[in-house]
Amino acid sequence: MNYSTMSKNLFISFEGIDGSGKSTQVKLLTENLKKAGHKVYFTFEPTDSPIGSVITNIFKHRIEADHRTIAGLFVADRLDHLLNKTNGIIKKLEEGFTVITDRYYFSSYAYQGTHMSLDWVIEANSLSADLLRPDLNIFIDIEPETGMKRLNSGRSSLELYENIENLRKVKEKYFEAFEKLKLKETIFKTNGERSPELIAADIWNEVSKIAGNS
Ligand code: ADP
Ligand code: TYD
Repeated sequence: MNYSTMSKNLFISFEGIDGSGKSTQVKLLTENLKKAGHKVYFTFEPTDSPIGSVITNIFKHRIEADHRTIAGLFVADRLDHLLNKTNGIIKKLEEGFTVITDRYYFSSYAYQGTHMSLDWVIEANSLSADLLRPDLNIFIDIEPETGMKRLNSGRSSLELYENIENLRKVKEKYFEAFEKLKLKETIFKTNGERSPELIAADIWNEVSKIAGNS
């Protein structure tokens, strides 16, 4: 039996504070999945759709908006990310792709939950959660100080939520949300303070268990 007949397509989300190494690990996991016979579709939030672009403009300080407005925009961006008829996640899954997203609703729980009621944010995203829960939420765990150091060395300017006090609160909210939803969600936490290769091996070990190719 070859790999492609053994593998089932998955929906995997990457989560973590800014600078946690998500992009790096998405690339490494994509390589491993492709070698194992998966067709992989990579995507991200905020998206590059018209709704996501409004969010990006707010984060880059080009336009101003209240945290509650941002929370609502993320709800809409996520629904379009799932339901868009051309390149939505649900369509891609139906086409047989394994879909990897850099951030999904746990990012809203952590980032928007820092500025407003976590329960409200969870409820506001319930349409998305009811449509599609990830087969695996991968959380790359780093200290906020590490995140700031990495951001400062790689970027000339910082976005709205990228400061140490906020990253500390966001990390705490991630853990609060994981605890609250542990019976509904499949969550894998990995120590992101190690080399990219070690983290990737850890992630691949976990994904292999559900990818039907271990
Ligand atoms: P994110 O997508 O979560 O913001 P990136 O993958 O872009 O994170 O990583 C942020 C920065 O940290 C990049 O400069 C990247 O090269 C570096 N980096 C990523 N993973 C590690 C790691 N495990 N150890 C040290 N540096 C890392
Ligand atoms: P991202 O482009 O993933 O940034 P990074 O590569 O630095 O992690 O995300 C941009 C910002 O969007 C990030 O600061 C987190 C924030 N965000 C939210 O506040 N809520 C959300 O629901 C999502 C998906 C992202």
